[in-house]
Amino acid sequence: MGNRILRPKTFLVPLILILALGCKDEFPSEQDFSNFLFPDSSVSYGLHVQKLFDARCIRCHNGSHPQTDLDLISPSYNKLMNYQPRLVLTRDPDNSILIQRLAGVITPRMPLNATPITENQLNGMRQWVLEGAVNN
Ligand code: HEC
Repeated sequence: MGNRILRPKTFLVPLILILALGCKDEFPSEQDFSNFLFPDSSVSYGLHVQKLFDARCIRCHNGSHPQTDLDLISPSYNKLMNYQPRLVLTRDPDNSILIQRLAGVITPRMPLNATPITENQLNGMRQWVLEGAVNN
């Protein structure tokens, strides 16, 4: 009799594993995003830049934060490029406020009060500006 009762462990463990694996394609947590790699060249706004904004920026930059009007919710390209003061100077990452904020050259560094983006991601953002800051 006792053997026929399913013990919670026998189905809960596999169930949790299935749920955990099944959620892999969901919105990445900020921690998981540290594994996201930009390529060395041919950086894409849609495939790389917007993904960074989605994972690390839009919880504040969504149009309703009391301290900033910068809205990076997809599609963000025109909102980013038309923002005043200008945040992106084409082919000039060193003088682009967007890059300066990510690098911490201008404080507060972005993302605010959070782990900085990785060196690969910062280089990727610089590369996107160097390659013309296009909506590709
Ligand atoms: C926890 C909230 C928060 C997160 C996350 C965050 N920001 Fe910000 N951001 C702010 C606030 C608040 C300001 C305005 C504060 C200031 O300039 O002193 C700001 C300002 C900026 C500015 C300057 C805009 C201007 O008006 O001059 C840029 C550029 C920027 N953020 C980019 C980013 C990027 C890119 C990310 C993601 C990598 C990011 N931020 C993540 C809160 C955040």
